[in-house]
Amino acid sequence: MSNGDVSQGRRRFLIGATSVVGGVGVVGAAVPFVGSWNPSAKAEAAGAPVTVNVDKIEPGQQVTIEWRGKPVWIIRRTDTMLENIEKLNDVVKDPQSEEPQQPSYIDGPLRAIRPEFGIYVGLCTHLGCVPSYRPEVAPADLGENWLGGLFCPCHGSRYDLAGRVYQGQPAPLNLEVPPYRFDDDSTLTVGLDPEAA
Ligand code: FES
Repeated sequence: MSNGDVSQGRRRFLIGATSVVGGVGVVGAAVPFVGSWNPSAKAEAAGAPVTVNVDKIEPGQQVTIEWRGKPVWIIRRTDTMLENIEKLNDVVKDPQSEEPQQPSYIDGPLRAIRPEFGIYVGLCTHLGCVPSYRPEVAPADLGENWLGGLFCPCHGSRYDLAGRVYQGQPAPLNLEVPPYRFDDDSTLTVGLDPEAA
Protein backbone atom coordinates (compact mmCIF):
# COMPACT_ATOMS: atom_id res chain seq x y z
CA MET A 1 0.00 0.00 0.00
CA SER A 2 1.09 3.60 -0.48
CA ASN A 3 2.11 6.18 2.06
CA GLY A 4 -1.21 7.81 1.34
CA ASP A 5 -2.90 4.80 2.90
CA VAL A 6 -0.74 5.14 5.98
CA SER A 7 -1.56 8.82 6.31
CA GLN A 8 -5.19 7.97 5.98
CA GLY A 9 -4.91 5.48 8.84
CA ARG A 10 -3.33 8.13 11.04
CA ARG A 11 -5.95 10.65 10.02
CA ARG A 12 -8.66 8.26 11.04
CA PHE A 13 -7.18 8.05 14.53
CA LEU A 14 -6.86 11.82 14.80
CA ILE A 15 -10.48 12.24 13.88
CA GLY A 16 -11.44 9.77 16.61
CA ALA A 17 -9.21 11.50 19.14
CA THR A 18 -10.82 14.83 18.39
CA SER A 19 -14.19 13.30 19.09
CA VAL A 20 -13.04 12.18 22.53
CA VAL A 21 -11.71 15.57 23.53
CA GLY A 22 -14.89 17.21 22.34
CA GLY A 23 -17.15 14.93 24.38
CA VAL A 24 -19.17 11.86 23.54
CA GLY A 25 -18.57 11.47 19.82
CA VAL A 26 -17.58 8.59 17.58
CA VAL A 27 -15.28 7.06 20.15
CA GLY A 28 -17.60 7.92 23.00
CA ALA A 29 -20.30 5.81 21.44
CA ALA A 30 -18.03 2.78 21.63
CA VAL A 31 -16.76 3.63 25.12
CA PRO A 32 -19.78 4.23 27.31
CA PHE A 33 -17.88 5.52 30.31
CA VAL A 34 -16.08 8.32 28.53
CA GLY A 35 -16.74 10.73 31.40
CA SER A 36 -14.90 8.56 33.91
CA TRP A 37 -11.55 8.71 32.21
CA ASN A 38 -11.46 11.85 30.15
CA PRO A 39 -9.42 14.55 31.89
CA SER A 40 -9.64 18.13 30.68
CA ALA A 41 -8.38 18.69 27.17
CA LYS A 42 -5.67 20.91 28.58
CA ALA A 43 -4.36 18.25 30.97
CA GLU A 44 -4.52 15.62 28.27
CA ALA A 45 -2.53 17.78 25.88
CA ALA A 46 0.19 18.00 28.51
CA GLY A 47 0.42 14.23 28.73
CA ALA A 48 -1.36 13.79 32.04
CA PRO A 49 -2.03 10.25 33.27
CA VAL A 50 -5.45 8.89 32.34
CA THR A 51 -7.55 6.96 34.86
CA VAL A 52 -10.04 4.28 33.81
CA ASN A 53 -12.61 2.27 35.76
CA VAL A 54 -11.94 -1.20 34.37
CA ASP A 55 -15.05 -2.71 35.99
CA LYS A 56 -17.03 -1.22 33.12
CA ILE A 57 -15.14 -3.17 30.46
CA GLU A 58 -16.87 -6.42 29.53
CA PRO A 59 -14.85 -9.67 29.17
CA GLY A 60 -13.61 -9.82 25.59
CA GLN A 61 -14.14 -6.11 25.02
CA GLN A 62 -11.52 -3.65 23.84
CA VAL A 63 -11.78 0.04 24.67
CA THR A 64 -9.59 2.89 23.49
CA ILE A 65 -8.37 5.84 25.48
CA GLU A 66 -6.05 8.61 24.41
CA TRP A 67 -2.79 9.15 26.23
CA ARG A 68 -0.15 11.61 25.05
CA GLY A 69 -1.87 11.86 21.70
CA LYS A 70 -1.76 8.12 21.12
CA PRO A 71 -4.55 5.55 21.15
CA VAL A 72 -4.07 3.14 24.04
CA TRP A 73 -6.11 -0.04 24.08
CA ILE A 74 -7.37 -1.86 27.12
CA ILE A 75 -8.39 -5.41 26.24
CA ARG A 76 -10.20 -7.42 28.91
CA ARG A 77 -9.04 -10.92 28.07
CA THR A 78 -11.04 -14.03 28.84
CA ASP A 79 -9.46 -17.28 30.03
CA THR A 80 -9.81 -18.69 26.50
CA MET A 81 -8.03 -15.68 25.05
CA LEU A 82 -5.17 -16.14 27.53
CA GLU A 83 -4.88 -19.82 26.62
CA ASN A 84 -4.79 -18.92 22.93
CA ILE A 85 -1.99 -16.42 23.47
CA GLU A 86 0.17 -19.15 24.98
CA LYS A 87 -0.54 -21.37 21.97
CA LEU A 88 1.08 -18.79 19.71
CA ASN A 89 4.49 -18.74 21.39
CA ASP A 90 6.08 -20.55 18.45
CA VAL A 91 4.68 -18.29 15.74
CA VAL A 92 5.36 -14.85 17.18
CA LYS A 93 8.67 -13.09 16.77
CA ASP A 94 9.48 -12.11 20.36
CA PRO A 95 7.44 -14.48 22.53
CA GLN A 96 8.99 -13.52 25.86
CA SER A 97 8.97 -9.74 25.30
CA GLU A 98 12.72 -9.38 25.24
CA GLU A 99 12.86 -6.40 22.88
CA PRO A 100 12.47 -3.09 24.79
CA GLN A 101 8.85 -2.46 23.89
CA GLN A 102 7.53 -2.41 27.45
CA PRO A 103 8.43 -1.10 30.93
CA SER A 104 10.71 -3.31 33.02
CA TYR A 105 7.81 -4.62 35.14
CA ILE A 106 6.14 -6.14 32.05
CA ASP A 107 7.52 -9.38 30.64
CA GLY A 108 6.68 -12.86 29.41
CA PRO A 109 4.07 -13.97 26.88
CA LEU A 110 1.06 -12.17 28.37
CA ARG A 111 2.76 -8.76 28.63
CA ALA A 112 0.59 -7.51 31.47
CA ILE A 113 0.57 -6.72 35.19
CA ARG A 114 -2.78 -8.50 35.53
CA PRO A 115 -3.27 -11.15 32.81
CA GLU A 116 -6.93 -10.21 32.44
CA PHE A 117 -6.05 -6.76 31.15
CA GLY A 118 -3.81 -6.27 28.12
CA ILE A 119 -2.83 -2.61 27.69
CA TYR A 120 -1.07 -1.59 24.49
CA VAL A 121 -0.38 1.46 22.37
CA GLY A 122 -2.61 0.95 19.34
CA LEU A 123 -0.12 1.94 16.65
CA CYS A 124 1.45 -0.61 14.33
CA THR A 125 5.23 -0.81 14.76
CA HIS A 126 5.68 -0.82 10.97
CA LEU A 127 4.51 2.64 9.89
CA GLY A 128 2.08 3.62 12.59
CA CYS A 129 -1.37 2.65 11.29
CA VAL A 130 -4.06 1.69 13.79
CA PRO A 131 -4.63 -2.10 13.71
CA SER A 132 -8.11 -3.57 13.95
CA TYR A 133 -9.29 -5.59 16.94
CA ARG A 134 -10.12 -9.05 15.65
CA PRO A 135 -10.88 -11.26 18.68
CA GLU A 136 -12.76 -13.96 16.76
CA VAL A 137 -11.21 -17.38 16.13
CA ALA A 138 -10.68 -18.54 12.52
CA PRO A 139 -12.66 -15.85 10.65
CA ALA A 140 -12.84 -16.46 6.89
CA ASP A 141 -10.62 -13.52 5.96
CA LEU A 142 -7.81 -14.28 8.43
CA GLY A 143 -7.70 -18.06 8.15
CA GLU A 144 -8.24 -21.10 10.31
CA ASN A 145 -5.07 -20.57 12.33
CA TRP A 146 -6.15 -17.15 13.58
CA LEU A 147 -6.78 -17.36 17.35
CA GLY A 148 -7.81 -13.77 17.88
CA GLY A 149 -5.58 -10.74 17.72
CA LEU A 150 -4.93 -7.44 16.00
CA PHE A 151 -4.67 -6.99 12.26
CA CYS A 152 -3.13 -3.97 10.59
CA PRO A 153 -5.07 -3.02 7.45
CA CYS A 154 -2.23 -0.99 5.90
CA HIS A 155 0.23 -3.79 5.08
CA GLY A 156 -1.22 -6.83 6.81
CA SER A 157 0.84 -7.16 9.98
CA ARG A 158 -0.62 -9.59 12.49
CA TYR A 159 -0.38 -9.41 16.27
CA ASP A 160 -1.82 -11.67 18.94
CA LEU A 161 -3.94 -10.50 21.89
CA ALA A 162 -0.79 -9.68 23.85
CA GLY A 163 0.36 -7.33 21.08
CA ARG A 164 3.08 -9.77 20.00
CA VAL A 165 3.83 -9.53 16.29
CA TYR A 166 3.83 -12.73 14.27
CA GLN A 167 7.03 -13.81 12.52
CA GLY A 168 7.55 -12.66 8.93
CA GLN A 169 5.42 -9.50 9.12
CA PRO A 170 6.23 -5.99 7.88
CA ALA A 171 6.07 -4.82 11.52
CA PRO A 172 9.41 -5.45 13.26
CA LEU A 173 8.38 -5.29 16.92
CA ASN A 174 5.64 -6.08 19.39
CA LEU A 175 3.19 -3.29 20.17
CA GLU A 176 4.44 -0.86 22.78
CA VAL A 177 3.18 -1.18 26.36
CA PRO A 178 2.72 2.21 28.06
CA PRO A 179 3.59 2.73 31.73
CA TYR A 180 0.58 1.95 33.88
CA ARG A 181 -0.52 0.78 37.28
CA PHE A 182 -3.60 -0.39 39.15
CA ASP A 183 -4.45 1.92 42.01
CA ASP A 184 -7.00 -0.65 43.27
CA ASP A 185 -8.93 -3.59 41.79
CA SER A 186 -11.07 -1.28 39.65
CA THR A 187 -8.83 1.66 38.88
CA LEU A 188 -6.23 1.68 36.15
CA THR A 189 -3.96 4.66 35.57
CA VAL A 190 -2.15 4.86 32.25
CA GLY A 191 0.93 7.04 32.34
CA LEU A 192 2.20 6.21 35.83
CA ASP A 193 4.43 3.33 36.90
CA PRO A 194 3.52 1.13 39.87
CA GLU A 195 4.68 2.63 43.14
CA ALA A 196 7.44 0.07 43.54
CA ALA A 197 8.69 0.18 39.95
S1 FES B 1 1.65 0.13 9.16
FE1 FES B 1 2.44 -1.34 7.77
S2 FES B 1 1.65 -3.20 8.52
FE2 FES B 1 0.92 -1.76 9.91
